[in-house]
Amino acid sequence: MFGKIVSHKVEDNKIHLEFEKNKGILEVINPMIVNVFCPLKYNNHYSRAVENLNIEQCEILVQEKGSYIEIKTEALLIKVYEDFKVDFYNIEGKILCEDFREERAPFIRRGTISDAQDEGHNVDKQAHNHKIEVVKRLFGDEKFYGLGEKTGHLNKRGYYYEMWNTDDPTPHVESHKSLYKSIPYFITLREDSTFGIFFDNTFKTYFDMGKENSEYYYFGAEDGNLDYYFIGGNNIQEVLKGYTDLTGKTPLPQMWTLGYQQSRWSYSPEGRVKEIAKNFREKDIPCDTIHLDIDYMESFKVFTWDKERFPDEKKLLNELNEDGFKIVTIIDPGVKKEKNYDIYETGLKNGYFATDKDGITYVNRVWPGDSVFPDFSNKDTRDWWAENQKLLLNSGVSGVWNDMNEPASFNGPLPDDVQFENEGRNTDHTEIHNVYGHLMAKATFEGIKKHSGKRPFVITRAAYAGTQKYSTVWTGDNQSFWDHLRMSIPMLLNLGMSGISFCGADVGGFSFDCTPELLSRWVQVGAFTPLFRNHSGSNTRDQEPWAFDEETLNINRKYIKLRYSLLPYLYDLLWSGETTGLPVMRPLVLHYERDKEVYEINDQFLFGENILVAPILEQGKKIRTVYLPEGQWIDYWTKEVIDGGKYILKDAPLDICPVFIKKGSIVPNYPEQSYVGEKDIKELTLDVYPGQGQYVHYVDDKASYNYREGEYTLYEFIMKSDEKVAIDINIKHEEYKAYNSFKVIYNCNTIKEISFNEEKLDFLENNNKIEFIIPAISGKLVIR
Ligand code: GLC
Repeated sequence: MFGKIVSHKVEDNKIHLEFEKNKGILEVINPMIVNVFCPLKYNNHYSRAVENLNIEQCEILVQEKGSYIEIKTEALLIKVYEDFKVDFYNIEGKILCEDFREERAPFIRRGTISDAQDEGHNVDKQAHNHKIEVVKRLFGDEKFYGLGEKTGHLNKRGYYYEMWNTDDPTPHVESHKSLYKSIPYFITLREDSTFGIFFDNTFKTYFDMGKENSEYYYFGAEDGNLDYYFIGGNNIQEVLKGYTDLTGKTPLPQMWTLGYQQSRWSYSPEGRVKEIAKNFREKDIPCDTIHLDIDYMESFKVFTWDKERFPDEKKLLNELNEDGFKIVTIIDPGVKKEKNYDIYETGLKNGYFATDKDGITYVNRVWPGDSVFPDFSNKDTRDWWAENQKLLLNSGVSGVWNDMNEPASFNGPLPDDVQFENEGRNTDHTEIHNVYGHLMAKATFEGIKKHSGKRPFVITRAAYAGTQKYSTVWTGDNQSFWDHLRMSIPMLLNLGMSGISFCGADVGGFSFDCTPELLSRWVQVGAFTPLFRNHSGSNTRDQEPWAFDEETLNINRKYIKLRYSLLPYLYDLLWSGETTGLPVMRPLVLHYERDKEVYEINDQFLFGENILVAPILEQGKKIRTVYLPEGQWIDYWTKEVIDGGKYILKDAPLDICPVFIKKGSIVPNYPEQSYVGEKDIKELTLDVYPGQGQYVHYVDDKASYNYREGEYTLYEFIMKSDEKVAIDINIKHEEYKAYNSFKVIYNCNTIKEISFNEEKLDFLENNNKIEFIIPAISGKLVIR
């Protein structure tokens, strides 16, 4: 495809390579990140994911070394050979990533396809070659993480996936090659090295992570440019930071979005919505959000209300808002083809809809019947769609849920030849399909931002790399299966490893009927997932916290309340994620990558760095093994201190989800509230697990963008432990009126004396902990 290197030329950070048959560009983005590019379709990068490429002026040394060109940055050594083979080494010369030089050699598939097909089996065909293909050597100890929302396990080695946003209502199982999102990004980890690859190509892409041969792995595409980023780093966290520096960080959301959310297809008419809201308050279950699924609309026409079922939506939403409920409404892309329907007529008049190849507005069937599809690749369409959000906001809607935006239709994916404007580079559906949902979410985000001034809350089903900037995601139509509860964990963890921190799965499962035990165990996981939403499908059994029996209700209440107490900690995680790119829900490997034991842990996760969650994921199970990594851990329920670096057995009756806190942690807690903002919290509880540690707590108005102008307060806690424990409290930044006092819950009961700024304090002894109150000012707390 490329042939020999003919010449090369260095221009700033770019190395232009002239090959016999093609040209290539290597661009040093910063010492750790390098872009490999060949303009096979377009001369430039037209990325939908990388919107503000920040190219660092850095030293690079380029030398011709006979058969190859050598490029050195401060951190990497790169060798480019004929056929545009590129090998990456660290600066000490250790190979990190090597292009595979031999022909691909797929394993042999024996037997006949047709016989198996005759019996109705789905049969994998031999993999084919792609127009663009990058084949890399697979090292024996290499593991893969990321790839967005895929079924299966945490480590993707040995599996094959495709990136083609897919709405597949059949139960999600390991053989699904694709689901709703396409995030062509993965991280590799070896015993002593790690890096990431982001293949920025929106066409259908293919990722074989060593399935067809254990000597290599490859990624490929049918069309588009060869355009991938090699992202180096000293550890996985740095790689993830590099990737999110490119594609964007999950922004800090409004705090209410982190509360509990209740959904169902559908709460309608308005009486049913009121009844749901009333139940939450009466049964003392905190809840911030109720979702309205498609039936609130008139004939499924987006941006309308069914006036029979919702005669006065403004009044209804206003009443609910006053009771502390935010309303999120679903908006699908399909616009009903109907004369005199304003959205349809305006879109049609302005050419905002996708067309067929003859330029005629393309029509397919979705909920409203014959529908047309906004061309979100066109900026004018996006601006118009953004303006439409005003209609929802004016009714009192607080967030928008974007669905069916793969785009899905009742006849499967749109045909390849549907036409899109693509910012003046007219193209067809094969290029836009994977970014359609991403662009819809972007338009929605921008509209809500402009017209509410607050941090928008958008949920999308379809996504591409970078969607985290605009929207939270949920993992689509799972089922009320134990297997789906189990699978949701590696799925969400890999979404987090792919930059999407704010994500969740339908708690309780969407299709099929949930059971009391399954809901009890699912809410225990949901309490620790960033998006905490119970949602279920049409015609399934009721699944609200009270829908089963007293025991299930109590368990739901217990974990939803636990979630509300942890809100300040969760909010801190999202705030710090704006800088680090680290997700809320983390595989253990993200913090313990030198511990081989954690590479394949699918059924435990970290909630931030210091809380380890090991839920029960099987029916009937009341005990499980838990792996605790190095250090000491405190059982959240019993306060027992346990040495890590080993497996333990933990009893877990139905109301217990095993949770462990790392020694040296300070976890901020809120008092009980029915919804975010119910109370003006002037006293923050600090749940302290004595040891060495550091914690930063962040406070702002929980909703606006004023924090970006400095309106926030930052508390830093540095805890040191020898014969006494000393906590230095420093207010690092103070431009938001936060707390008057801290209530300290100190998890140890062998205390003789406590002083704050050298003044002795009274304390209360309570089981295996003590409690006392200090003013929320800078100072030194000493506990002996
Ligand atoms: C899709 C969504 C689901 C929603 C339903 C009706 O199946 O994934 O969440 O409830 O459509 O809108």
